[in-house]
Amino acid sequence: MNILLLGSGGREHALAWKIAQSPRVKQLFVAPGNAGTSNVATNLPFKADDFAAIKYAVRDKHIDMVVVGPEDPLVKGIYDYFKNDSELKDIPVIGPSKAGAVLEGSKDFAKGFMQRHNIPTAAYRTFDGEHLTEGLDFLKTLQPPYVLKADGLCAGKGVLIVPSLEEAEKELKEMLGGMFGQASAKVVIEEFLSGIECSVFVLTDGTHYCILPEAKDYKRIGEGDTGLNTGGMGSVSPVPFADKTWMQKVEDRIIRPTVEGLAAEGIDYKGFIFFGLINVEGNPKVIEYNVRMGDPETETVMLRIKSDLVDLFEGVANGDLHKRKLEVDERSAVCVMLVSGGYPGSYQKGFTIKGIDSVDGSVVFHAGTARMGNGDIVTAGGRVIAVSSYGKDKTEALQKSFAEAQKITFEGRYFRRDIGADL
Ligand code: AMP
Ligand code: GLY
Repeated sequence: MNILLLGSGGREHALAWKIAQSPRVKQLFVAPGNAGTSNVATNLPFKADDFAAIKYAVRDKHIDMVVVGPEDPLVKGIYDYFKNDSELKDIPVIGPSKAGAVLEGSKDFAKGFMQRHNIPTAAYRTFDGEHLTEGLDFLKTLQPPYVLKADGLCAGKGVLIVPSLEEAEKELKEMLGGMFGQASAKVVIEEFLSGIECSVFVLTDGTHYCILPEAKDYKRIGEGDTGLNTGGMGSVSPVPFADKTWMQKVEDRIIRPTVEGLAAEGIDYKGFIFFGLINVEGNPKVIEYNVRMGDPETETVMLRIKSDLVDLFEGVANGDLHKRKLEVDERSAVCVMLVSGGYPGSYQKGFTIKGIDSVDGSVVFHAGTARMGNGDIVTAGGRVIAVSSYGKDKTEALQKSFAEAQKITFEGRYFRRDIGADL
């Protein structure tokens, strides 16, 4: 079959790498893709949320399945667009309906959903601009630090964790006053939870689910988890504390109630669910839902899936996911992200990347790269390249990734050398 994958980051290169290994795939297209996806697929030059261009490509390239990488097209309703189009309605889209994507698109909806289905999460209340006074009063009832979340999508910038009540009051006023535009017209204020985070992923056909390997990502730019938040500096899978007992709690208290809750609310959901969890004294709680895979978690999770991912996608599309088999590689996989100097602040692009071909035994996933007319690969984003490796354990995998990462050079290159050190 022919598959169209939407997106352009490291996550999409990792998905494309895995999908391209399936014997069922005749042609794989990625839109818009990056310099890395063009090694395993054919890039198409349109944006992941350009529905008209997607429709044209699906007919022109005889696409049999669409796989959605990022949340944007899902929140904008790509699934429903296909369902409601007479020419597209029989082509499966791997990703939830617009109603399902609200789990990520609205923090207030996600919190309400968890409350309705008894899914463990931080205590919270939501306020809009007309209830600022109540919001300020609520803050006074909480202990520091204070967690304030813009309700809508803010490209990962909508969560503020502040140490003092004065700051929290100031931020609440600013958020409701339009700090993130419409996205912060409502603000979720919640209890601060202390613990280690873990990302758990499932594929669901709406009834059944398949739990994929879990991973931990590293969000801060600096070693020792210091400095500004980034799109992710590395990841590790498996996560040692996510043992059988813990994962059983996750399945019983979080995964099953979520899939059943979606069905009970009549929400059409055929795709990935990403549970951003925190381990609070041995008990998992949900920090957030995402309706896609994580980045850079995908760059390790794909290494650990031995089964044919396209077979699982077909299970999602046909509603018989329980009949498909997931085989997981017992080895550890890690990824180290090479980023541009200055990132996540301002940084320059266009530096030539050297040494990719000398990497041996690790998998190189491109994130922000571009191919020039002369064939050179240059930096084209903050996060540039993920170096993913296997090892018999995390330590061996990390040694490999750090050693291979050294071989790839570009001006200003930076990577964290403490990925996985906290586990
Ligand atoms: P979110 O976008 O909801 O994932 O939040 C971004 C990050 O903020 C999370 O990955 C956590 O590190 C942190 N965070 C969010 N909510 C809480 C909370 N209730 N307690 C502690 N940390 C939180
Ligand atoms: N790694 C976290 C995310 O993809 O949102």
